[in-house]
Amino acid sequence: MNMTDSIAIDGPAGAGKSTIAKMVARELDMIYVDTGAMYRAVAVWTCDEGIVPEDECAVSEKLDKVDVTISYHDGQQRVLLNGDDVTDRLRDEETGRRASLVSKHSCVRKKLVDLQQKLAREARVIMDGRDIGTKVLPDAILKIFLTASPEVRADRRFAELKEKGIDCEYDKILADIKERDRSDETRKVSPLKPADDSVILDSSDMTQDEVAGQIIKLYRSR
Ligand code: DC
Repeated sequence: MNMTDSIAIDGPAGAGKSTIAKMVARELDMIYVDTGAMYRAVAVWTCDEGIVPEDECAVSEKLDKVDVTISYHDGQQRVLLNGDDVTDRLRDEETGRRASLVSKHSCVRKKLVDLQQKLAREARVIMDGRDIGTKVLPDAILKIFLTASPEVRADRRFAELKEKGIDCEYDKILADIKERDRSDETRKVSPLKPADDSVILDSSDMTQDEVAGQIIKLYRSR
């Protein structure tokens, strides 16, 4: 498979990348790959092994014993950690916090980027993350940098949690989003930034259908 057929979607946490990528994947019959889930799987591993995620030496010492595998069931991505399906453990706040910390280590990034590039060689993918356009798929036919203001992203997250009946404070969510942005944008290895040839889409005042429609149109015009 030619990696240039793929779409890269990067952007900050909460910009709606995964929802949009799934919509586009359905329409264009592509495989959606959620790379954040892979960093989250490594975060779960640090938790289970009692490894401090900031401790790069401890992480790298045992990292070759970690096997992250992606499989698909009914079109949904499942993540296996050393053979166990950990998909249902990936989305909690502590895992997100740890994922942000382990994703700073170059040994972790190398391992996961290799896996992501292997997946992109095997299928036509739409992949979302932070470094897809800059590092993982530098030759992707279309690179999107999807963003929205921190306030809009916090509003969306607040509404999502409320709908699930989860008690939360707007100010805390906004502060977490700003901190996650700072951490992802300032790390030394592969910081979050738009690729030079990416199309920047600010979804603050757009519906999901409008954003997905625009990406599909851009892809078809390439
Ligand atoms: O997209 P997400 O919230 O599931 O990502 C979890 C963490 O992983 C996030 O803090 C940034 C990191 N990440 C990364 O560094 N590179 C990627 N390609 C995807 C995610």
